[in-house]
Amino acid sequence: MSPAGANGPVRVALLGCGTVGGQVVRLLREQADELAARAGSPVELVGVAVRRPHRHPDLGDLLTTDASALVTRDDVDVVVEVIGGIEPARTLLLQALKAGKSVVTANKALLAEEGAALAEAADAAGVDLYYEASVAGAIPLLRPLRESLAGDRITRVAGIVNGTTNFILSAMAANGSSYADALEEATRLGYAEADPSADVDGYDAASKAAILATLAFHTRVTAGDVYCEGIRQVSAADIAAAKGLGCVIKLLAICERTAGEGTEPETVSARVYPAMIPASHPLAAVDGAFNAVFVEAEAAGQLMFYGQGAGGAPTASAVLGDLVAVARNRVIGGHAPRESAYASLPVRSMGSVHTRYHVSLDVADRAGVLAAIAGEFSRNGVSIAAVRQSGGGRIDGAMTESDGAARLVVVTHAAPESALAATVETLTKLDAVRGVDSVLRVEELGRTGVVG
Ligand SMILES: NC(=O)c1ccc[n+]([C@@H]2O[C@H](COP(=O)([O-])OP(=O)(O)OC[C@H]3O[C@@H](n4cnc5c(N)ncnc54)[C@H](OP(=O)(O)O)[C@@H]3O)[C@@H](O)[C@H]2O)c1
Repeated sequence: MSPAGANGPVRVALLGCGTVGGQVVRLLREQADELAARAGSPVELVGVAVRRPHRHPDLGDLLTTDASALVTRDDVDVVVEVIGGIEPARTLLLQALKAGKSVVTANKALLAEEGAALAEAADAAGVDLYYEASVAGAIPLLRPLRESLAGDRITRVAGIVNGTTNFILSAMAANGSSYADALEEATRLGYAEADPSADVDGYDAASKAAILATLAFHTRVTAGDVYCEGIRQVSAADIAAAKGLGCVIKLLAICERTAGEGTEPETVSARVYPAMIPASHPLAAVDGAFNAVFVEAEAAGQLMFYGQGAGGAPTASAVLGDLVAVARNRVIGGHAPRESAYASLPVRSMGSVHTRYHVSLDVADRAGVLAAIAGEFSRNGVSIAAVRQSGGGRIDGAMTESDGAARLVVVTHAAPESALAATVETLTKLDAVRGVDSVLRVEELGRTGVVG
């Protein structure tokens, strides 16, 4: 490998030239002079690997279908990967790192699965591994966690990190539409892919949660450690119920550090699910395809990062920022500080995570039902904060006016997930309970009690 000299170019191989890669090429070309001035040396594109070269006529001789040969070429200093998925990206990046090339990638799925292997390979080769674009697109978030907050103790990172699901939930809230109709609209407008599973089932957000938790808590967290629920089950009735409580429903990625009690160790948790948050919380105002992440640190307090979480140009902006950082490091002959996972905190199981719940029940409309239901919550150690009834007569034992059905909503105080699950199981066995319509978590995210 021939290193970039004081004024020699930093030579870049690009893997993938789709939505993001195409914009990386455009910015590299349009801003060549400014990038050279900022990096301290020209940043030159020397090769682009794609699958179907005929789709990229403007790239001429730069094109190749042999990505493996490209990443090990002597005239390549940095490999930018915007193919996506686990393979062949994993093999190509490990090859590149082993060959002494620095790597910039936007690949959240790969980092959430193989972040440790990539970081070790970068370490061993003494080169850079940057991945700002992998979480929340254009929003500078990973570098602040890694660098600006390195002197602080982060206690929570929580936010909206998937634009597709945020668009769908925002549309449901604005129009009262069903999940299916809102998904159809998102697909028509290009916010959802033909197969939306990775977004609507929460996997995309779970990969991002793993990356955020790893950086925030100096602890290796993989996608498999992240509890994940998507938004398919969120109904128009849930959205209306949230509104009635002064809340909105958002798909949240939550990474938390929890102090150990007694001899218990400190733990971290990473989870993704739709949750009610108070309409007064700053995250509630994040609508459409935007992303926002709320960071809480002991000394810094609360910080919020907001912006475009996806799209070719916004994501390319983050890739180019990383590329300039790598180029600067090469010009001065060094590399960025290593990623640290020294804390190695245990990841908490979902069963022991405490949140509040909004439980909606379809119950028989007769006297004594409320007492029976409250008894089940109490038996399982879940304390009730508020109960609301709609439809039917009185179910509190005072009188009976109807033998039809009523809807009962119970909002709880914080309780462990396992206790709530046990409560729901026993509720479904009660004669008086015709069905548990929905269970939604209620997250207040550091704001004082607004719900219940
Ligand atoms: N799109 C976004 O808004 C966004 C936001 C944040 C992060 N990201 C991440 O950025 C990455 C790229 O996303 P994208 O939306 O740009 O994807 P995309 O539009 O599907 O582009 C993928 C590119 O990779 C090329 N490719 C696929 N398999 C290849 C292989 N085996 N060898 C060489 N090239 C191959 C494709 O070649 P052809 O052109 O020949 O098909 C295409 O140019 C993903 O990791 C994604 O998660 C995307």
